[in-house]
Amino acid sequence: MNGIRIGVVLGSTRPQRLGERVCHFVMKQAKDVPDADFRVLDLAGYRMPFFDEAEAPLANRDRVPAENVRCWLGDLAAMDGYLFLTPEYNYTFPAVLKNALDFLAKEAEGKPAAILSYSNTMHGGNIAGNELRAVLSKLGMLPLPRSLPMAHAERLLDETGDLVEQSDWAAKVAAFVPWSLNELVRYAAALKTVRAA
Ligand SMILES: Cc1cc2nc3c(=O)[nH]c(=O)nc-3n(C[C@H](O)[C@H](O)[C@H](O)COP(=O)(O)O)c2cc1C
Repeated sequence: MNGIRIGVVLGSTRPQRLGERVCHFVMKQAKDVPDADFRVLDLAGYRMPFFDEAEAPLANRDRVPAENVRCWLGDLAAMDGYLFLTPEYNYTFPAVLKNALDFLAKEAEGKPAAILSYSNTMHGGNIAGNELRAVLSKLGMLPLPRSLPMAHAERLLDETGDLVEQSDWAAKVAAFVPWSLNELVRYAAALKTVRAA
């Protein structure tokens, strides 16, 4: 363990969310990634209000966010990198995730962010992933270039996050996700050094 901490942000808060399966799957794969500690940051758990601060967080040094928001920001700040799990709602990522991101000032600046979008359609949340990429950049994160929109995640994964489909597509997902988690940790370690310089 070299102390690399990765926050896995679960971007859906629906009680019956498919994202939970995706999250279980990722966390199972994460156990095999050396030198890193993955932690789920579940937006459903923070129960944040809608953003209503007087100014943009970056321009407002004296802000005192609500306690739940402080908790979210503190958890983000403690991480060296992020994996965002996002579904697609009407061609973009969920409002609850955008709301959570709008509270950020510099907590995630200079840190890498991988995006894993998913859906129960053939599109895999591709549009949502691309829109999220722009927002993460605006907040100073470094979105990693490769992603694999996880189409039909409801067929690929059972409720415990085990890959149950046998297909070329499932084999591709099974290979890509561990690769991308390792890549994320590699970038997180490198950028930690950069931030300290
Ligand atoms: C409000 C809403 C809008 C949706 N819009 C899209 C969409 O634009 N594209 C798509 O591929 N799937 C869309 N879907 C289907 C989602 O991919 C599917 O419901 C998925 O399970 C959502 O993730 P979640 O269960 O983790 O919230 C939409 C679902 C909801 C609830």
